[in-house]
This record gives sequence, structure tokens and C-alpha cells, in this order.
Amino acid sequence: MKDSERPIGIFDSGLGGLTVFKAVRRLMPSENIIYFGDTARVPYGTKSKNAVISFSKEIAALLSARGVKLLIVACNTASSLALEEVRKVSKAPVIGVIEPGARAAAAATVNKRILVAGTTATVLSGAYGRALKKLDPGLLVREKACPLFVPLVEEGWCGKKITELVAAEYLAPFKKQRFDTMILGCTHYPLLKKVIGRVLGRGVRLVDSAEAAAFEARAALVSRDLLNPGYGGKIRFIASDAPEKFRILARRLLGIKTGRVEVKRF
Ligand code: DGL
Repeated sequence: MKDSERPIGIFDSGLGGLTVFKAVRRLMPSENIIYFGDTARVPYGTKSKNAVISFSKEIAALLSARGVKLLIVACNTASSLALEEVRKVSKAPVIGVIEPGARAAAAATVNKRILVAGTTATVLSGAYGRALKKLDPGLLVREKACPLFVPLVEEGWCGKKITELVAAEYLAPFKKQRFDTMILGCTHYPLLKKVIGRVLGRGVRLVDSAEAAAFEARAALVSRDLLNPGYGGKIRFIASDAPEKFRILARRLLGIKTGRVEVKRF
């Protein structure tokens, strides 16, 4: 197999990273992809740094052994807490979602006021704030944990009134603070774009770190001459538990037909 034909590895704590998978697939339909969802240990957003590091390293080693040419850490929590450790065990170059999302937000803001929403672990890590300040120390950044968003999305309740109420509870207090850009700093939040947009109003640009990461992945492959020139990339899904639930939710929440989902238990 030529190097360019080797798959891109994408991993997440569960199925939320399928938002990144979709963005990658849209941008590079000829790429072979292996997607790993750690459904046995989801959620990562409420776990300790040590736990997230050890889970992420295990998955990176597994995907390395399967010969991926690029590894995308689709999970914002794992990207915030474990990226450097993942780089130590991965044979392939590693891309997280924090820096691409931060770059897209820094480019989008006009008034230099950026709001970041994420899991509790992502927000506590301050990773987005650091990445943004590195790009432009003049940015004003506020980070807000929105832990109820993940279960609401997984319940399939993106369009329900209760989700709008929760979004308003978390985000309405920021309305008066003139943020013109918000980072959807969690895999699940792109699925809440409409609700969040309604709560914050039209003046706030919502930056999707999934899309930004896909662009970064393509640039990484182009710079290494690793883009797969063929057609119709092959996809393989692996879950660490409950493959049937993964298959059903992928279809219901994201319209993805996974076919057979392989199980790999740790
Ligand atoms: N994938 C996680 C993230 O993007 C959300 C779900 C979880 O907490 O594991 O932060």
C-alpha cells in the first residue's frame, strides 16, 4: 500500500467526533478513514486529566498500529488535556481541534471578544484561552462549561424546548457582553448551532472547530504529499463498547450509515 492510501485515524470519546469525521469526509472524500469511538468510557468531559491522557494514549497506540498516516484527536477534551502525550505515542503526525478552532475564531472576530463553550474538563484546562492568547494577546476570552449539552444531544433533543431553555440558562448572561464570536468547543455543539444561534442572536459568529480541524488535516496531508488521489475512500468504524448503539445513534443524530461497527475492548 502506498503511504497516501493509508487511512486517516480519527478518535473521540464516543460518537460526537463524527461531526469531525463528517467535515473531513466532506472535504476529502477520497481518503480512507478509521474512526474510533471510546463508547465504553464516554464521557471524557467529566473525567480527570490522568484518565483522559491514559485513554487517549491507548487509542493513539491502537490507531498507530493500524498504520494511520495522520491522527486527528476529534475530542475537544482529549485535545485540551492529552495532545502532547498522544504525540509521544503516535507514529503519525497528530492534529487536535483546539488550535484550528482558535485560529478560525481569531480570524473571525472583529471586536476581539471571543466566548468559548466546552465540557467542564476543557474549560478548566484553559486550553482554548491559551491558544487564543498565543495568537493574539489582545483578545478578550471567556470560557463557559455547558455540561448538559452533551446528554441533550445524545438524547436526540437538539430541537426541543428544554434544550433552548438550557442554552439560554448557560449563555444568555453573555449576551450583553458584546462577544462577536463563539467557539463551539465540544464535538457535540455543532449539532446545537441553531439553538445557540437563537439564544445569542445574529451578531455572534459561531465557529465550528470540527470544520477548522478538517481544513488543518488537509493542509497537513498536502504539505507531506500524502493526499490520496483515488476515489471513494473506505471507512471503518470501531467502538470500545455497544457497537449497535453507536450504529443507531450515528444514523439518528448525524445521518451516517456506519455499516458494521467493529468492537475493540481495552
Ligand atoms: N467529545 C467530548 C468533547 O469534545 C464531548 C463528550 C465527552 O465528554 O466525552 O469534549
